[in-house]
Amino acid sequence: MNTPKRYTITAALPYTNGPVHIGHLAGVYVPADIYARYQRLQGSDVLYICGSDEHGVPITIKAKKEGISPQQVVDKYHEMIKKSFAEFGISFDNYSRTTAKVHHDTASDFFKKLYEDGKFIEETNEQLYDAEANQFLADRFVVGTCPKCGFEESYGDQCENCGTSHNATDLINPKSAITGNTPTLKETKHWFLPLDQYQDWLRTWIVEGHANDWKPNVLGQVKSWLDDGLRPRAVTRDLDWGIPVPVEGGEGKVLYVWFDAPIGYISSTKEWAERTGKDWEPYWKDEDTKLLHFIGKDNIVFHCIIFPSMLKAEGSYILPENVPANEFLNLEGNKLSTSKNWAVWLHEYLEDFPGKQDVLRYTLTANAPETKDNDFTWKDFQARNNNELVAIFGNFINRVVVLTHKYYNGIVPSPNAFSEVDEDTLMMLKKYPQIISKSIERYRFREAQNELMNLARMGNKYLADEEPWKVIKQDEERVKTIMFVALQIATALSILSEPFLPFTSNKLKGMLNVSSSTSTPLGTGSEEMSWNSVSKENVLLKSGHQIDKAELLFAKIEDAEIQIQLEKLTASKKANELENQSVEPQKETIEFDDFTKLDIRIGTILEAVKVAKTKKLLQLKVDVGIDIRTIVSGIAESFSPEDIIGKQVTVLTNLAPRTIRGVESQGMILMCDTPDGKLAFVEPDANVVNGGRIS
Ligand code: 2FM
Ligand code: ZN
Repeated sequence: MNTPKRYTITAALPYTNGPVHIGHLAGVYVPADIYARYQRLQGSDVLYICGSDEHGVPITIKAKKEGISPQQVVDKYHEMIKKSFAEFGISFDNYSRTTAKVHHDTASDFFKKLYEDGKFIEETNEQLYDAEANQFLADRFVVGTCPKCGFEESYGDQCENCGTSHNATDLINPKSAITGNTPTLKETKHWFLPLDQYQDWLRTWIVEGHANDWKPNVLGQVKSWLDDGLRPRAVTRDLDWGIPVPVEGGEGKVLYVWFDAPIGYISSTKEWAERTGKDWEPYWKDEDTKLLHFIGKDNIVFHCIIFPSMLKAEGSYILPENVPANEFLNLEGNKLSTSKNWAVWLHEYLEDFPGKQDVLRYTLTANAPETKDNDFTWKDFQARNNNELVAIFGNFINRVVVLTHKYYNGIVPSPNAFSEVDEDTLMMLKKYPQIISKSIERYRFREAQNELMNLARMGNKYLADEEPWKVIKQDEERVKTIMFVALQIATALSILSEPFLPFTSNKLKGMLNVSSSTSTPLGTGSEEMSWNSVSKENVLLKSGHQIDKAELLFAKIEDAEIQIQLEKLTASKKANELENQSVEPQKETIEFDDFTKLDIRIGTILEAVKVAKTKKLLQLKVDVGIDIRTIVSGIAESFSPEDIIGKQVTVLTNLAPRTIRGVESQGMILMCDTPDGKLAFVEPDANVVNGGRIS
């Protein structure tokens, strides 16, 4: 027997400063899960690991904002994220966290080894400092203009616009994210990884060695950094949340979060090994192991330049075989954002769409941002469910299972002689495992899933062409053959859908009464029903086999369900607009006497007409108690004349008259701006007599 291939598959550790959203799922966790499940079905020895990234400035900022400790923040989100991944069917072999002792020990030891081997440069230099907050400004504690692309809100360690990773002191116009102050410079000691010393090696290993198997977006970014020239990179920080620097002089300092986080993959492996009684080392040190990092594009520099340099410096680790990074997913045309609540949160999706994990997996894979940024829309989600999962996959399976029960009490019939169409169909069926494998192995998950759907389409077409429901009236023997062929396709779908639609695959295996254990050969553990048996075996589901009752695999999603989601997003947008409305600075101070000069009264609008040839102006007649006067007001874009008759408004009555478009205006109506760019009246909240004074 061949030794199974060993895979260590990592998925980027999510930050625990918020829940997981569809962008994370589409970019990292779903593709990595498809790959892991697929490799398990190939019989490979797969270790799929992840964990929470619990250090770093975003956590500290969140804690400050919520008035709780960083530990409380990470405890809350770690539990939430872990639970929602499990419910969503992300099949990690281990989900750890970077506040775990095993991780602190592993990261500390890693740092000490590099320190003792003389792999760091120790340097005292000037770093950005916020005197008011009494702290150094690292990473996300400082915002400024990116020296590479000019983006004005770049963070200290990375620009979210162009992806460049830089030192905080490189920022133009830096500002403290804590106080808004311009930082000063203050001397401090840090340890640097001299990335420049790894430059040539990185170029040979990646640019020359992986030119044909790494994705163009990944190679492009790597080349650009190497062409710009790498510089030493600080791997320690003056912060109090993180892993203490474990060497002399490191007091009060912690490891840079991007130094400790990728080591989290190793500590998660150790935790898994401890739990299962296995040896962790082959998964990280055996040259035969294939190490794969699934990440989003903003993580490329860390996984292709910094972490490999750390592994190389340490000396005993393998390097990644591939880093299949994805681009970003947008939501309804806008960038996903945790802070702006512009997201579809996994835990909310699971509550709103119970039992529909596969619909989201399917939609995210169908729109996976594999080569460019892509957009998720709720309408597309609905259409993918109703027009593809329900109408193609679900419809085919339902017909097959229902007809098998109707004609044969659920027993797989014995076929008669196959027609040419049957032979062609069965031959085509055998090609699918390889077709799908080829795409998965090149990290083309959209293409792979589309091929799976082509198999379901083939099944539908076969039934539509052969029409067993008509033929049954004249030729019962022929129908046995048709249903036998259709049942083979259904069985193949139950096997080949597992990486993409694991819940559906399990349900379908249940309906077909074949083993439903995930990622293991089907049947009674025999090789007969594995991924490759779809190509090798002539018969997947034997005649005489009893299948179970039909269940609905997918249900239609109604407009009303989509509307609820769209309304949620509209509410987020409104809340953001309100929050972001800039408040103008206060005007110059005035004396009380200045105020008493203003004669502000309540009045009632009696008449309103548009001022001819203008867009903005209404001519109003207003009863201000003292008299009834004409006022020209620039409110026509916010109100129709007929809607404001009888309205009580606030009027500055003693403003010197002005002639506007030939009409003398004898006062001013006080208005304020609304978040959607319209105007609103300043109204009394009780009925007040006209002429009532504001004082
Ligand atoms: O970008 C992020 O969300 C990081 N928390 C990813 C870390 S990946 C790894 F290196 F740990
Ligand atoms: Zn930039």
